[in-house]
This record gives sequence, C-alpha cells and structure tokens, in this order.
Amino acid sequence: MTIELETQLTVLQQQAQQAIAAAATIDDLEQLRIQYLGKKGSLSQVLGGLGRLTPHERPRIGAIANQVKDALQSDLDHKRAQLINAQIQGQLEAETLDVTMPGTYCPQGRSHPLTSTIDRALDIFVGLGYTVADGPEMETDYYNFEALNTPIDHPARDMQDTFYLPDGNMLRTHTSSVQIRYMENHEPPLRIVAPGRVYRRDTVDATHAAVFHQIEILAVDEDLTFTDLKGTIKVFLQEFFGDDLPVRFRTSYFPFTEPSAEVDVQWQGRWLEVLGCGMVDPNVLRSVGYDPEIYNGFAAGFGAERFAMVLHEIDDVRRFYGNDLRFLRQFQ
Ligand code: DAH
Repeated sequence: MTIELETQLTVLQQQAQQAIAAAATIDDLEQLRIQYLGKKGSLSQVLGGLGRLTPHERPRIGAIANQVKDALQSDLDHKRAQLINAQIQGQLEAETLDVTMPGTYCPQGRSHPLTSTIDRALDIFVGLGYTVADGPEMETDYYNFEALNTPIDHPARDMQDTFYLPDGNMLRTHTSSVQIRYMENHEPPLRIVAPGRVYRRDTVDATHAAVFHQIEILAVDEDLTFTDLKGTIKVFLQEFFGDDLPVRFRTSYFPFTEPSAEVDVQWQGRWLEVLGCGMVDPNVLRSVGYDPEIYNGFAAGFGAERFAMVLHEIDDVRRFYGNDLRFLRQFQ
C-alpha cells in the first residue's frame, strides 16, 4: 500500500513536471495547477488514500506528498516567471522604437502677416469694448458715398479711383460703408471695429495696391468729444506698436467727419501718416435716422498694409501678395 502510494506520487510528480515544462502559455500553466494541485486535483486524489495507511506510515507518505506539492509549486512559479519574461521580451522586440529613423515631416501653417496684423488691431479694440462688424465688398453708391456725406462732385467719386461694376454698383473704396450699414440696424450707444478688403484704381507700386485692407472704427454716444477720439487713437497706437512712438494729429478733411484729422507716427526718424479720423459729420448721423442734437460720434480708418509694413519693417506692399514662402515663413 505504502509502496503503491509512493509510486503514484513519483509518477504524478514526473508527469506534472513534464507537462509544466512543456506549457506554452500562462493559461496552460493555470490549467496544470488546477489539474495537479487544485482541490479536486490529482494530488488530492492520491492523498485520499492516506486514510487507509497505518498510523506510522502516514507521516512518511504525508511528508513525501508535501515535498511533491512544494516541488510542483516551485516549478509552476518558475515556469510562470519564465513565460512572463518571454512575453515582455516579445513585446519589447515587437514595439521597439528606432529613435534614429527619420521622422515624418508635418509642415505647420501660420497666419499671413496681414491676418495677424488685423487680428492684433481687433484684439486691442475688442479689449476697449468694441464689437467686430463687417459689410459687403460690392457696394451701392449710397453706402459707399452718398450716406457718408460725399457730394456727387467729390474727387473720391472720380472714375480713376473707383472700380465701377456694369450695373452701376461698385467695389467699396473704403470700409466706412460699414458705418452706415451698422448704424441703420442698431441704436446708439455703439462701438464697432470693421476690418475688410477695399478696392482702388491705383497704379500698383511699392506703396500702393489696387486691393488692400482697412480697419474702421466708429463710436456713437451722447457726449463724445474729440478728446475721446484722441485718447482712443493714442492708446491703440501705443498698444499696437508696443512702444511710446511719438504721435501727432494734423487737421485734414473727410466728407464724413467734421472736424477731421490725419494721424502720423514718428518712425525711423520720419513722420509717417497712419490713419484718418474725425468727429462724425451730423449729416451722416441724420442719414441713418439718428438725431445729431442728441448723439455724436467719432470714427477712424486705417490701412492694415501700412501698419504691417511699419510693424515688420517691410519695404514693399507687393510682398504681401506674392505668395513667396521664403517671405511668409518669417512671420509667426
Ligand atoms: N475712409 C477713409 C479713407 O479710406 C479713412 C477714414 C478717414 C475713415 C476718416 C474714417 C474717418 O472713419 O473718420 O481714406
């Protein structure tokens, strides 16, 4: 009986050890553990025979059984560690990253210098409480000239300046037309900033383009003064150029403002004209149904190209439209 049990244990140990050595996966190993060492496993079954042994044989066979159990458990642990290791090795090999491989080139886009100039100006005015507005590039005579108090014989209407369309409409010559369109649909108080493309029949050269960009501002309220206009323009110019550039106001004339002024900044030792502005002419307010006895306003308009040229020290306006990547890549 004793011999028989002892043999059974030896055979069980051998079989189990072979099976464990041959296990290919951690799942297989778990199956073997259940099969041999589990509650209803082979070892338990063999030990079921212990009861039939004499009391003095029992401890010896029990001790052998424990040795078999410990040996198998240790084999299982060992094999498990081996399999996990192999799994990690395989994963490392499969997922190896060769840091010396050339990367994939993903060119990154960036804003055109004119776009970033316009955005910079808009940010400043939005910070001052202005709302961004826009209007159409094809305009009627009414919005581009008439409602802006521009008499029929004004030089700005000259065929040489304006691109007329066959139907008698035109490409807007300035963004001042947005003033009228906005006021027609809103009640004061209001403050708007309107960027946009404008068109002039100009001969293209280093400082003139037939298509360019303007930014217009308009404020209408009950007690606005020329001092408010001056303060706004000064704050804007200082914010925009990030510098205490000397600024001067010169009297000027625009049909839609009275009084009117042009503003120069001192840049590289020269006075450079950067914008036109003034107090909104009462006739303009009247044309949109505002009572000039109650309301008044100020307005200004400036060229985005001119600002971008000063900001980035660019010598020729045509560079903005040349689509030359060597030029464009210089700007963030
Ligand atoms: N519209 C003018 C131009 O294109 C610029 C301008 C001047 C706009 C005075 C204004 C202003 O709003 O008040 O030259």
